[in-house]
Amino acid sequence: MRFVFSPPAEAASGLLDLSWHEPLEEWEDERLVEIRQRGLSRHPVRFVAEAGVVYALKELDARLARREYRLLRSLRDLGLPAVEVVGVVVDRPGLDAILVTRFLDYSSSYRALFANARYGHPTDRLQDALVELLVRLHLAGFMWGDCSLSNVLFRMDAGAFAAYLVDAETAELHPALSEGQRGYDLDLARERIAGELFDLQAAGTLPPVDPIEVADDTVRRYHALWDELTREEILHPEDQRYRIADRLRRINSLGFDVDEVELVDAGPVAGEGTTPHTSGNGPGGARLRVRTRVAEPGHHRRILMARTGLGAQENQARRLLNDIAAYRGYLERVKGGPVPEVVASNTWLAEVYERVVRAIPADLRDRLDEVEIFHEILEHRWFLSERAGRDVGTTEAARDYFDSVLPTVPEDLTETGRPPS
Ligand SMILES: Nc1ncnc2c1ncn2[C@@H]1O[C@H](COP(=O)(O)OP(=O)(O)O)[C@@H](O)[C@H]1O
Ligand SMILES: [Mg+2]
Repeated sequence: MRFVFSPPAEAASGLLDLSWHEPLEEWEDERLVEIRQRGLSRHPVRFVAEAGVVYALKELDARLARREYRLLRSLRDLGLPAVEVVGVVVDRPGLDAILVTRFLDYSSSYRALFANARYGHPTDRLQDALVELLVRLHLAGFMWGDCSLSNVLFRMDAGAFAAYLVDAETAELHPALSEGQRGYDLDLARERIAGELFDLQAAGTLPPVDPIEVADDTVRRYHALWDELTREEILHPEDQRYRIADRLRRINSLGFDVDEVELVDAGPVAGEGTTPHTSGNGPGGARLRVRTRVAEPGHHRRILMARTGLGAQENQARRLLNDIAAYRGYLERVKGGPVPEVVASNTWLAEVYERVVRAIPADLRDRLDEVEIFHEILEHRWFLSERAGRDVGTTEAARDYFDSVLPTVPEDLTETGRPPS
């Protein structure tokens, strides 16, 4: 038997005395934990809590396990959203290998999301999150070969969802993907998504949507996003500067960062219904190519991290940056003069954000991640202020939110996988 762990391996060394010599499904160990509503799987998958951390163990053919181990490491190196791989156990006499990943904190399967009334109809947000993940993977040259709702985990992201890849055993990493390779992934995704939604329909947990229509629409959304990020445009000389700025802003607003902008001389530009000779635009038209960065967290996450050191999902980061900007305006009004960005960010962190987070009741801390709780408090403040006809302030909003909203967040939606205390 052989264990291969990637550093930091000390954390996982507590796993060494599990019953590796027995089939995973026959294990009996007090460290095993049940995860409700997890995604569908081909292989035996079980979860173990060790020293406060939960791990997912999957038993599968050694060749596939090694391959998945390698691919998940590549995804981590590329900075793409996927579960974190811990190690692989091979050469178990007479048995398949076991792949060990870390349980993704605060994650839910699509089944858990559909089962929870709190989030209304999650279909739309699930589609957007899945599409964004697939586009990111494709930009990085990663062909999934198994894109489905079951193979994705979702985390809350300021009311939207952020998707993480969970199953990579069929994937291939290339320098870039052809249209055929992307098309292959999309065909599979369409088929799998429709199938998974039909299953939910049969179980009575699907809102009134047509599975095939949702699957087709997911593919349409993929093409729209891919096109926005990668399409080449021909720019007229007179509006070049504006059009470039506009395109970059749109890409940033989708949560992506631009790595490189390339302008290639395209010669004279023809206006509509004119020939190049008569267009009057003269020379100077340019072809705009934009390369999107994949190896970095999203645009707003990066800015928030630089300003405050807070790690967040993309929409959460956007939300927090807006709150910091509003707070800066407030500080400037109080002071009667300009307040530097860095001062505003630091003051906001200490006086607003950390104060709220410290006040979260200990027994409710695991319901949602900290940034999501803060986001919900901002929403709640807006709601209470509307009702009261005055700004109730963050402290009062937080108090009311802890009393009346947070306790209603179902635990299974936000299954942290942490061992029961
Ligand atoms: N690291 C993890 N964190 C959270 N959930 C996980 C993790 N690994 C697996 N799961 C859950 O187990 C399910 C099955 O895992 P998966 O790797 O897709 O197995 P299979 O190859 O059999 O399809 C997933 O849909 C997901 O719900
Ligand atoms: Mg799977």
